[in-house]
Amino acid sequence: MKKRLLLSMIVLTTALMSFGQSTMEVNTKKLGASIQSTMYGIFFEDINFAADGGLYGELVKNRSFEFPQALMGWQAFGCFDVEDDGPFERCPHYVVLSDPGHPDRRSGLVNEGYFGIGVDKDETYRFSVWAKAPKGDGAIRVQLIDENSMEEKQEFVEKEIDIKGKDWKKYTINITSPKKDKHAKLRIFLKGTNSVALEHISLFPVNTFKNRENGMRRDLAQALADLKPGIFRFPGGCIVEGTDLATRYQWKNTLGPVENRPLNGNRWEHTFDYRYYPDYYQSYGLGFFEFFQLSEDIGAEPLPILNVGMACQYQNWNKESAHQPMDELKPYIDDCLDLIEFANGPANSKWGKIRAEMGHPAPFNMKYIGVGNEQWGEFYYERLKPFVAAIRAKYPEIKIVGTSGPVPEDVPDNTYRFEDGWKAMKAQKADLVDEHYYRNEEWFLTHGLRYDTYDRKGPKVFAGEYACHGEGKKWNHYEAAILEAAFMTGFERNADVVHMTTPAPLFSHVDGWQWRPDQIWYDNTDMFKTVSYYVQQMYATNAGTNVLPLTMDKKPVANQAGQNGLFASAAFDSKTNEVIIKIANTSKQPQAVNFQLSDIKTGGTAKTCTLFHQGMDDENTICKPELITPKAGSINYTADKKQATLSDELPPMSFRIYRIKK
Ligand code: AHR
Repeated sequence: MKKRLLLSMIVLTTALMSFGQSTMEVNTKKLGASIQSTMYGIFFEDINFAADGGLYGELVKNRSFEFPQALMGWQAFGCFDVEDDGPFERCPHYVVLSDPGHPDRRSGLVNEGYFGIGVDKDETYRFSVWAKAPKGDGAIRVQLIDENSMEEKQEFVEKEIDIKGKDWKKYTINITSPKKDKHAKLRIFLKGTNSVALEHISLFPVNTFKNRENGMRRDLAQALADLKPGIFRFPGGCIVEGTDLATRYQWKNTLGPVENRPLNGNRWEHTFDYRYYPDYYQSYGLGFFEFFQLSEDIGAEPLPILNVGMACQYQNWNKESAHQPMDELKPYIDDCLDLIEFANGPANSKWGKIRAEMGHPAPFNMKYIGVGNEQWGEFYYERLKPFVAAIRAKYPEIKIVGTSGPVPEDVPDNTYRFEDGWKAMKAQKADLVDEHYYRNEEWFLTHGLRYDTYDRKGPKVFAGEYACHGEGKKWNHYEAAILEAAFMTGFERNADVVHMTTPAPLFSHVDGWQWRPDQIWYDNTDMFKTVSYYVQQMYATNAGTNVLPLTMDKKPVANQAGQNGLFASAAFDSKTNEVIIKIANTSKQPQAVNFQLSDIKTGGTAKTCTLFHQGMDDENTICKPELITPKAGSINYTADKKQATLSDELPPMSFRIYRIKK
């Protein structure tokens, strides 16, 4: 035992010695650029069943029978018909259940939910249905069932509803579940022999985030709030563009009563045939009003992205006919102008009135709009111009976010024209440019200085989609998250030019995903936060207000020659009067570091927060949601008349934050 201890001490000392001590200077007097409140944020897209089946509270799939196959998600049995002259113009389909013709036969419906219906013990769910009884009063029995139960009965809770009269009416009951079940189903039996017509059948947790009736799943929305995001980009991503323009995201269709919001396709239904979900549609239940309200609820600035008259370029490439002709862009431009009125206009303006009627008379105070998701080339540059002109003319105070396409640099065949994109955005005076990068470990290790050389006079940077995609390891493993943390020191150091950052994608259902890594995973009842999520949270909750110079041998610390895989940055928090240092050790060895902080003349104890784990390929999971989490700690530092000195040993492949009172 003693021998082993001695051996590990020798290994540790050799490792420390092999790198020597890295000394870094932090000039705490030289307040640099302001760190924008929008610096760290979230990007939501309905991919990986992030909206329906995810954040949006609805538990019933195809609640309005509007999927192209009207009974997708449902099993209908006995005597039933699908009709299409229902009370909601844009969702006209409904089901009629009728006498099955024998007292022992049944008519009814079973809904499978999204990979099942998740219910929690003692939680209450609101069941609602629009119904009528065309030939005399009828009734239905509403049950939550466990089809695989070995109990005598499959149903574990049941209630009845009487359906009275020939006119459509909404019926609502609350159902409390006596048990937790991740894969329950909703079953409805016709009771008696009189027909009933059923439309918009909904099951919704009562206990949503902020208790909103058309609200969000509480645990998932809370996880967003806990990230303390400064900016909230929505609703995508490629779904903004659509596989074709007919299926682009149309925010106007997401307003008003949910019963009358038309169904839209979802390009993530068919993007990858190796992860194919034929029943993936957008109900628009989580629409623009809900997005704005959620932004407000979690304290983030809303950043809606609108279609620029282009279908997804990945799916249409150079086929110009896929896009809206230049002389027919007006409806798309109007969508932008009308959205600004919807968000910010007075309650008596055309679109502001709709916002007020939906329950928010006060403006949402939107400051940014993105035009185009991830476009590139002339089709985009020329289409963007009239949008910019129209928005500037009517709403000069709104900041416009353009895009430089899907890659962060010119690639050999220059398909995506990154540099041209930036030139075009500069020429058109976009306020921010949305950059996207999904890159491997090597890229994250070697691009720490990416923003140090950016033009300070042009548009600001919005790193709107980024993630470290491990080479041959596309999951949420620990190593990738540490490299993201390391790279993000470059965001902070360059806060004068980097104004917003949002990793991507945000959400993913463990039973139905198309893309990973992601920030937050969940099944129908439980969730877990990835290590990448914790990295984001560590940054956002330790953002500071101003950059401070931090250097090693007068050079920024970004894994430069002689820096032994270290990445570091510093900020001052004028609200708490603290110096905040962030440092990642991306080497596989422990390292001794020493910070010399000018102008701190008394010693003390710094608070620390550390992310460290030994299995590089490990990740948090539903079963082990907290395998890897940041840990709070503290460390003493000394001071003389000139400066404070904080000496520490960083574990290999770790990320640590220090907060030091000034
Ligand atoms: O985040 C997933 C996808 O990646 C987004 O929809 C798109 O913008 C990018 O290609």
